[in-house]
Amino acid sequence: MDDFSYINGSLHCESVNVQTIARKFGTPLFVYSRQTIIDHYRKIAEAFGPLDPRICYSVKSCSNLNILAVLKEMGASFDVVSGGELARVLEVGVDPKRIVYAGVSKTDREINAALDAGIGWFNVESEQELETLANLAAKHNTVAQVALRVNPDVDPQTHRHTTTGKRETKFGVDLQRAANVFEEFAKNPAIKLAGLHVHIGSPVNRIEPFVESIKKTLGLIVQLSKSGHAITSINIGGGYGAHYSGEEAPTAADYATHIVPLLQDKNLTVMLEPGRSIMANAGVLIAETIFKKSSGDKKFVIVDAAMTDLIRPALYDAFHFAWPVAPAGGMIPPRRSQELKLEGTELVDIVGPVCETGDFLAKDRWLPPMSRGDLLCIFSAGAYGFSMSSQYNSRPRAAEVLVHGHEAKLIRKRETYEDLVALERQK
Ligand code: LLP
Repeated sequence: MDDFSYINGSLHCESVNVQTIARKFGTPLFVYSRQTIIDHYRKIAEAFGPLDPRICYSVKSCSNLNILAVLKEMGASFDVVSGGELARVLEVGVDPKRIVYAGVSKTDREINAALDAGIGWFNVESEQELETLANLAAKHNTVAQVALRVNPDVDPQTHRHTTTGKRETKFGVDLQRAANVFEEFAKNPAIKLAGLHVHIGSPVNRIEPFVESIKKTLGLIVQLSKSGHAITSINIGGGYGAHYSGEEAPTAADYATHIVPLLQDKNLTVMLEPGRSIMANAGVLIAETIFKKSSGDKKFVIVDAAMTDLIRPALYDAFHFAWPVAPAGGMIPPRRSQELKLEGTELVDIVGPVCETGDFLAKDRWLPPMSRGDLLCIFSAGAYGFSMSSQYNSRPRAAEVLVHGHEAKLIRKRETYEDLVALERQK
């Protein structure tokens, strides 16, 4: 599943002892495994191989330049959702034709930057956006290649904040209106409306919603082709699950078993946009225990990482398995499970320093005894960890390290107090 394992009582990332990395670079610290990123990418490429897909890594899940460079080396394409993400991908020297750009609100400045770069596809989400893109492309004397993002009204059965393919969400154009959009814009010389894009939510741990949304989108393609619109590409989005607790997510092969037959022999370029399924288990967050305290029956382990480093528990009540890096008494977890309760553990909440009750990383966990200075690992933090982090409470953002075999390389310096104020100083 990943390259984080306990060796001689201490957590290792690939061949490097995480204690050594944490002592060298400090905490809170994100540690990523290059090998895990590569393995996860390969599994997707192999499973969907019969479709010869374009795998567009979803940059928002973890956008560090050095991670993007690993994926570029693997031959990935890239899914961006802002001018900032576009700038990152261009910075690592990705062929712009390998970039797809989604998002409900693209400013003129962002659209112009993408047109200047000559990106592969604009995933457009509304009529007004299409009109704006066409006008700006005309000014650039260029033709923008467009996939219309459709909203298939399918329930992905995931958290309401990350549900995107239900009619009442802000994303895409509903299937009924999509044909009209083609009628209205297909002849516009500044755009080539040649694809459909669909992304229903994240994480989607069931396969049926994917099947349903793809079938609906294929139905629209048939309808469009009958009206003379040639669709060359379908982008089926991201949202593939990852194992946070046990084996709850389908594997890439499971998804592919049901998705590949739907799309094979359809003469379409197929694109996928995985983020979490590549990165979640390729990264962990390491924190140091600062204090312990009790309040009535309740026990707290207070660490130096917070909701500012990993907001997923606070925002989605997300489960992240947590365990000491070098557990007392050599208590190695047999699995990363929500139910794990070993002898000698105590029931605690793991909380951070931020002045909010919502600042917790884990609630009601059976943890081995923790002492001041002990390191704690919060697993599955590689996706939507650092990329959603903030400086709230004027906390400098964490450092990031990428491990490759025996080597641990700092890929983002820890922010300093100077970084916190530099942009605010009046000359
Ligand atoms: N494509 C589009 C158009 C998306 O909006 C997203 C994610 C993806 C691809 C990648 O989805 P993935 O394969 O990573 O599941 N912050 C939330 C997740 C928000 C996902 C937003 N869109 C979390 O921490 O769970």
